[in-house]
Amino acid sequence: MSSQPLSPQDAAKKHAAEAAIPYIEEGSIVGVGTGSTVNFFIDALAKVKFDLEGAVSSSEESTKRLKALGIPVYDLNGVPEVTVYVDGADEINRHLQMIKGGGGALTREKIVAAVAKTFICIADKSKYTLKLGDFPLPIEVIPMARSYVARELVRLGGDPVYREDFITDNGNIILDIHHLDILEPIKLEEAINNITGVVTNGLFAARSADIALLSDGHTIETLTR
Ligand code: A5P
Repeated sequence: MSSQPLSPQDAAKKHAAEAAIPYIEEGSIVGVGTGSTVNFFIDALAKVKFDLEGAVSSSEESTKRLKALGIPVYDLNGVPEVTVYVDGADEINRHLQMIKGGGGALTREKIVAAVAKTFICIADKSKYTLKLGDFPLPIEVIPMARSYVARELVRLGGDPVYREDFITDNGNIILDIHHLDILEPIKLEEAINNITGVVTNGLFAARSADIALLSDGHTIETLTR
């Protein structure tokens, strides 16, 4: 059975994902993010030769994929520590601050990232940017607060767009905020979190990544904070 060749972007995602494997400790429980880059990481994880105890997962989608490949998935509440969390990004800057949530899994991703000692971002190089904000910022919102939160986000200078036909793993909706001028990511992350009805926003600035592995398909650029 022959498989289709990967697009250059997918080849770069796979390359970045595989570069994260040496960071995983034998016998550990690894934190696993969500998205197409992470899917390559899960595939690589299933092939490691050393003993991996298992994973904690940031979405139903990743849980399903991990289990299908025979990797045990643990409840985060029962796990004393997560040494390494591996996840993708929609945008990442030189401070390793990110916009995430293109796949809508931002809340659970932020929770696992908060617990993890080391957050490794894996991405193809197109995700690197000098200034965050070209990618619309995803915000998970309690459904009854949708209109109120949208009005508040307009006051912050954004253009909220309701993500149609999408419900998060937590039963909430997503607003994607276009045209935000993200000059101070940590302050904006905090300001959006303070809007009543917001569950999480996709700015990962207060808890940025610790290491970024960026691939152009041939070489890995390793960025650290
Ligand atoms: C999922 O909700 C996101 O945070 C992903 O980590 C992000 O969208 C990157 O996805 P890809 O790896 O598919 O580009």
